[in-house]
Amino acid sequence: MSTVKMPPKLPLWFALKNIRKNAQNPIPFFTNGIKMMGNIFTTYLGTRRIIITNNPDYIQYVVQKNNKNYHKSPVVKEILGAELGYGLLTSDGDYWLKQRRLIQPGFYKQRLAELTGIMTDEIALYINELAEQIKQNPQTEISKEMMGAAFRIVNKTLFSTGIDKEQMKRVDFIISNLQKYVVTQARQPYMVPWLKISGKVKYYKTLREEADSIIYDIINKRRNSGTNYNDLLDMLLNARYEDTGEGMTNQQLRDEAIILVVAGHETTANAMSWALYLLSQHPDVEQKVLKEANAVLGNHAAFTYDDLAKLNYTRQVIQEAMRLYPPAWVIDRMALEDDEVGGYLIPKGSIMLMYIYGTHRSPMFWKDPDTFNPDRFAKENLKDLPNYAYFPFGGGPRLCIGNNFALMEMQILLAMLVKRFTFTLVPNQTIEPQPLVTLRPKYGIKMLLKERRSATVG
Ligand code: HEM
Repeated sequence: MSTVKMPPKLPLWFALKNIRKNAQNPIPFFTNGIKMMGNIFTTYLGTRRIIITNNPDYIQYVVQKNNKNYHKSPVVKEILGAELGYGLLTSDGDYWLKQRRLIQPGFYKQRLAELTGIMTDEIALYINELAEQIKQNPQTEISKEMMGAAFRIVNKTLFSTGIDKEQMKRVDFIISNLQKYVVTQARQPYMVPWLKISGKVKYYKTLREEADSIIYDIINKRRNSGTNYNDLLDMLLNARYEDTGEGMTNQQLRDEAIILVVAGHETTANAMSWALYLLSQHPDVEQKVLKEANAVLGNHAAFTYDDLAKLNYTRQVIQEAMRLYPPAWVIDRMALEDDEVGGYLIPKGSIMLMYIYGTHRSPMFWKDPDTFNPDRFAKENLKDLPNYAYFPFGGGPRLCIGNNFALMEMQILLAMLVKRFTFTLVPNQTIEPQPLVTLRPKYGIKMLLKERRSATVG
């Protein structure tokens, strides 16, 4: 391994230039770094060495081929885990594997098919409420809207009738505040002493305890109810470890449930917001989605699981939206031992950043990479795409467990929204992606919504 070279080092002046701007929005920094240094380079974040790559082969090596040498970074485990609990997303090693094996069957296609009913009912309810809301005020901030929609959809598929509106509002408030708190600790570690002095640490602890008591209450009621709801919570409650035949404890259930809500709503909401934004800019594409939704739905009231395979173009639109704006714009790992990737040394303890956004926009794999073109995802056009040139859900053993759930949700939601409303971008606003934990529109996306029926009548 002694002849192996380090990935090229980004000149210090480049990393220091705009240091604050880079911390706020690392995308231009990483993209320019790749233009300057090639598809792998190293730089420092504080005292820790980070290695950034958008090379699909290197990425596949880290997340899949030699995944055993890479754990989640300390940010995910120590900060996100401490605030939100140790569920699938935030655990590693043997415990993670045990949990993944236990929970995976709940996301098999057959189980998802059974969840379609809860999901479509909630989407229909939401769309009716949105129609009422725009009668009062047609201007809507789409990213807030989608955040609310995705939150209630994942909550309903998880807890069905077990969670009421007030509880849902509180959990939403608490989770979004804890997430902001995580980002502050990760990006501005110098703020940590101030957080203690100012009483914030105590405040967030109280919030965490409140969320816990809501979730524990739901779990206990369910354990005692003796009724089968056929939702994700039932799946978690009924899952049994192979070796002991035991189920999860209340704390494990709480951790996994919170992680599913956290991992499952903001990502989906951002993908939906960007998809609606792109449709508003491409009326021809929007018309094709509408035509498909009308044809597939025909005269039945709600989409079924079998309809999903027919909503092909809608799926392509979502895939293309996630190419341009991958909700998880980067994934990180820490090397447990020295390793070698494509002839480069990855020293033990380095943080590897798999720069999804950079791969998805690389001209090496995509023609006119910044152009929105859902036809890229037509089956016949995907033949030559290398592995990991497109990986919005990650890959290897830690592939997003909710990928099919998310696709199903987004296909149904997008088709139903486009069928019911027209979406017009309010002029004179800045639309800019902001890479926090997920890639969200920095200033939101303001749109005017109009019901199609009234749009055609009026
Ligand atoms: C558009 C929507 C979504 C995107 C783009 C997305 C993306 C991702 C990515 C990239 C990872 C891998 C992270 C890594 O390797 O470090 C991941 C993991 C995960 N996702 Fe998703 N996700 C989405 C929706 C969902 C949904 C709906 C759920 C649950 C209902 C979910 C639950 C999870 C969980 C539990 C993990 C951790 C899996 C493990 O490590 O075993 N995600 N997601």
